[in-house]
Formats: sequence, C-alpha cells, structure tokens
Amino acid sequence: MERSTRSARTETPAIEETGIASMGLHLPPLAMRVEDLATLRGEDPQKYLVGLECNEFSLCPPEFSIVDLAAEAARRALSRWDGELSDIGMIVVGTESAVDMSRPLSAFVAERLGLRGHVRSYEVKHACYGGTLALRQALEWRMSGAARGKAALVVAADVALYAPGDPGEPTQGAGAVAFVVDRPEVASIETISYPYSDPAFDFYRPVGDAYPTVDGKLSLECYRRAAVECFRALCAGEDPEKILQHFEALCFHVPFPKMVRKTVLRLGEAFGWGAERVNELFKDKVEPTMLWNKLSGNAYTASLWISVARALQGRRPGERIAAFSYGSGFGSELLSLVAGPLASEGAWAEDIEKDLAARGRIDAEAYQRLRGLPGLAPAG
Ligand code: CAA
Repeated sequence: MERSTRSARTETPAIEETGIASMGLHLPPLAMRVEDLATLRGEDPQKYLVGLECNEFSLCPPEFSIVDLAAEAARRALSRWDGELSDIGMIVVGTESAVDMSRPLSAFVAERLGLRGHVRSYEVKHACYGGTLALRQALEWRMSGAARGKAALVVAADVALYAPGDPGEPTQGAGAVAFVVDRPEVASIETISYPYSDPAFDFYRPVGDAYPTVDGKLSLECYRRAAVECFRALCAGEDPEKILQHFEALCFHVPFPKMVRKTVLRLGEAFGWGAERVNELFKDKVEPTMLWNKLSGNAYTASLWISVARALQGRRPGERIAAFSYGSGFGSELLSLVAGPLASEGAWAEDIEKDLAARGRIDAEAYQRLRGLPGLAPAG
C-alpha cells in the first residue's frame, strides 16, 4: 500500500489521516472448559454453556503476568506497522489489572519494548471501558495537533479472575489487544461518538482487594440501560432499523456472550422490533463477532476489541462496524469504525490462531492448584 512520507511532523493530520494503522492480539498460554469448572463447582454444565453461553476461558500460569500479555500484544502490533519506535510519541494502556498503584502499566510495557524519550506514557482506568478511553485519547491527541504527526501505541489488557466459587467464575478470562494509532490502514474511527454514564456500584474492586465485588443483577441492568441510551443517541430520532443498516457488524463488550444476546433483545424492546427481527439481527451482525470471545472468556478492557478485531477481519474498505463499550461504575460509549485497506487481509487473526494452537487446556485438579486451593479427593 502506498503511504505518504512522515516528514510533516508539525502538521495536524486530517481526520481521514488518523485511525488504527495496525493491530496485535495476545491470549495467555492456558485455558479451561466451562464444563470442567461446572463439575468442580457442582453446577449443571448447561448453566454455563446455555445459560451464560460460555465455552472456554483463558488463564495465566503463575510465571505469566499482565505485563507479558500487554507487551506481547504491543510487540505484535508494532511488527505489523512500518514506522520506527522513535515515531511513537505516546504509549497508553487501558486496564483494571494494574500491578502498582503509582507506576503505570505503560511504564512496564515501555520498558520491555525499549520505548523511552519524548513519549507521553500513562495508564487509564475505567473498568472494562478503560481500553476504549485510551484509544479515544490517542485518536484525539493525534487529531488535535499535539502529537506533531507522531503515532501512539495503545494497549487494552486484562486478566479477569473472580473469587473461587463466585457466580462470575465461569465468565473469567484474559487477553490483550494493541493498536498503533497512525494512518487508518486497518480502520478509521469516526470523531463523533455516543457516550453515556451514570455513577453506580455494580462491579468494583476496592484498593487491596484481590477480587471484584459484584452486584450481578444490577450490573446486567446498568449494561443494558447504557446500550439503549447509546444506540438511541446514535439514531437521534431516526428509524433505528435504517441507521443500523449502515453497519455490517455490531460489536459489544462481552462479559459473557449471553449478556450480549440479552442486550440485543433489550434494544429490540426499546425500538419496537419483533422477535424474528431481533434474532435475525443477532445472528447476522452480532453473534459472528464473538467467536474469539467464546475462547478467551472476559478480558475486561480487551473484550470489546477482541470482538472488533474479529469483525474487522476480511472487511472491504468502507464497510462500517459499530462498537459498544461498557465499563462498570458505570461509563459507556458507542463508536463507529470504517474498515481501511488492510482490514480485508486481517493479519492479526494469525495471533489468535497461533495462541490457540499453543495453549494448554487444564483440568479441574490443575485449576485448583493454580488458584492455590486444595486438590481433589482421589476417586473411589
Ligand atoms: N440450564 C440452562 N440454563 C440455566 C441452567 C441450566 N441448568 N441453570 C441456570 N440457567 C440460566 C438461568 O436461567 C440464567 O439465564 P437467564 O439470565 O436467561 O434467565 C443464566 O443461566 C444465569 O443464571 P443465574 O442468573 O442464576 O446466574 P448467576 O446469578 O449464578 O450468575 C451472573 C450470573 C450474575 C451474570 C454472574 O455470572 C456474574 O456475576 N458475572 C460477573 C458480572 C458480569 O459479568 N456482569 C455483566 C455486566 S457488567 C460488565 O459488563 C463489566 C464486566 O465485564 C464484568
């Protein structure tokens, strides 16, 4: 693909000159089937498989950290970009798996990459919405002219673990997605987006707590309300049916796949669609985007972007994707992406293929050990 030169550093890039230039994904080396967790917890496997629509979740071995996850995704995104490390003027990591209350995760990642110098480096926190905010800030930084033509490296990375026995345990997972924000070879993101927030204690992790405190039912309700408000704002009084026709795929934050199905049903109620129309929309434009999420489990900040990565793969230039981001607390935002010339190639899919081929599946006994719990009693 033909690219313009990088000489005009002091110019503010035009909007059409800013977007996702490259992407990298990473999943950790272990996984577990939800059926095995159900047996361990004395639950009917159908509750996890059908009730939550979960399949497998990623897990990190003891020696594998959030820094490994985030840095490898970043390295992969950089390897698909034709710039130099010295062309990066910002590194920002969205996460709720921070390893330090002061030192940002971006410093740990930058250290691994050898990224230093005239670079703005920081971490963004807003539960699962933090990755989206990091990406928006990078886009707006570039479009404002403050970047002076430099590119940004953005990472959304999380390890989602619940207390053993918590109802959220089958929805666990981990993963990272990284972007180089430069010219929109993979996708552009429209400047206008549709945020909605309302302070709530639906899911939170007080300082010092290892696991989140979750008001499950409230979290579901907040998520659905946020989605309706964001989509209403997008439609701005016009026929939602007509507006959504402009999108080839609708991506959502995926805490567990059934959450997304429930949300599409709620959108149907809000907009007066019949059951058949809702099912059709879900099957055509939503369900296919969750293929990788069903294998990663919830990856908090990365979850929406794993779905977007899947949806962008194979898209023709100009095709549109909607992306709904939700973070407990709560904040949300609906974005519109337009596929660029490198989307059809979808080079980042090889990251998922490679990680899935290499990862090991652990059984209930190994899972107990990994969580520091007593082993299972021998059979018989
Ligand atoms: N066969 C088939 N289905 C079964 C079943 C069986 N044997 N037993 C139960 N089910 C169904 C239930 O009917 C229910 O389905 P519906 O919701 O369609 O009625 C489903 O399985 C789940 O059952 P419960 O509601 O009883 O499940 P639970 O209360 O034990 O746990 C949960 C569900 C609250 C969502 C829990 O998984 C949780 O706390 N998750 C973490 C919080 C979360 O993900 N919230 C989402 C919004 S917040 C957010 O998005 C941020 C984030 O990433 C966390």
